[in-house]
Parts: sequence; C-alpha cells; structure tokens
Amino acid sequence: MALKIIDHGSPEYREMTRLREQILRRPLGLTLDSEELETERPHVHIGAFEEDSLLGCCMLVREDDRTVRLRQMAVSDDIQRKGIGKALMSFAENIARDQGYRNLIMHARQHAIGFYEKMGYRVTSTEFTEVTIPHVVMEKSL
Ligand SMILES: CC(C)(COP(=O)(O)OP(=O)(O)OC[C@H]1O[C@@H](n2cnc3c(N)ncnc32)[C@H](O)[C@@H]1OP(=O)(O)O)[C@@H](O)C(=O)NCCC(=O)NCCS
Repeated sequence: MALKIIDHGSPEYREMTRLREQILRRPLGLTLDSEELETERPHVHIGAFEEDSLLGCCMLVREDDRTVRLRQMAVSDDIQRKGIGKALMSFAENIARDQGYRNLIMHARQHAIGFYEKMGYRVTSTEFTEVTIPHVVMEKSL
C-alpha cells in the first residue's frame, strides 16, 4: 500500500471524490456538490493506494496556527478493518506535525468513535448533528 498527498483537481482527486460520495454521502441520501469541492483547493488531500486503485482517503483542513482538522476519512466498504484507516491516520498525523500543528481534531461520526479512540483521540464535546447524523468533536495533541 502506498500513502500519498493528492493534488486538488487531479484524476486521483476525482477518484477520491467518488469514494467519499460512495462511503460518506450516498448512504445518507446526500451528494458532494461542485461548489463544496472548489472550496477544498487549499486543503491537504491524502489517499491510500494499491497499484492505481484508491483504498481510502482523508483530508486535513487548517483551523488555526496550532490546530488542524481531519475530514472525510473513508475506507472502501469491502476492505474496512484491515488497517487502512489506521495507516491513513498515522500518515495524516505526520504531515500535520511536519506542518507545525500541535493539535488534531475531527467531527467524528458516532459509530466511528471507537476507531478514533484506538488512535488516541478523546471526545471533547457533547453530541451534535451534522450531515443528518450524530457526531462528537474528538481531539489529540500531536
Ligand atoms: C472508520 C474507518 C475510517 C476505519 O477504517 P478501517 O480501515 O476500517 O480501520 P482499521 O482497520 O485501520 O482499524 C484500526 C483499529 O480500529 C478498530 N476499528 C475500526 N473501525 C472501528 C469502529 N467503527 N469502531 C470501533 N473500532 C473500530 C479496528 O478494529 C482496529 O483495531 P485494532 O488496532 O485493535 O485491530 C472505516 O471503517 C470507514 O471508512 N467507515 C465508514 C466511513 C466513516 O464512518 N468514516 C469516519 C467518518 S468520521
């Protein structure tokens, strides 16, 4: 498996948007729109690949000088629970550290809390609704 940063607008980025759509949006009856994707140009897009095939992805978004937010973490349905999410998370944390961030946060879907807890994150908010489902803020010092 190869982990790499993907350029916004590249063929890999388009593959990433298809995976995000399939794993994160369509099950909720939602879609990604082109306006939303255009705002993602400054973010760090990360993919896990086997050969040319995208296995999983995530994105880092600057909050402030110290804090970066992980978004859009998704692993292809048929290969979840095989360590791909963990590898993406470690790679994203290393990039965040290299860029000088001290904290990593995310809005975690309730069913994914256990995954992030295994990566050392803790819940720091009460529950709220985002994209129609329950979420909490989780964070960790890098
Ligand atoms: C959540 C997700 C990214 C995890 O990726 P993954 O590749 O399946 O996870 P990994 O195999 O790397 O798991 C790492 C560890 O977390 C555990 N884990 C994975 N998903 C879990 C979950 N939903 N709840 C509790 N533990 C979980 C694994 O068992 C593993 O534990 P271990 O290290 O003791 O063996 C993936 O399941 C996914 O894409 N889910 C659907 C989309 C989603 O909910 N994304 C998160 C949005 S906030």
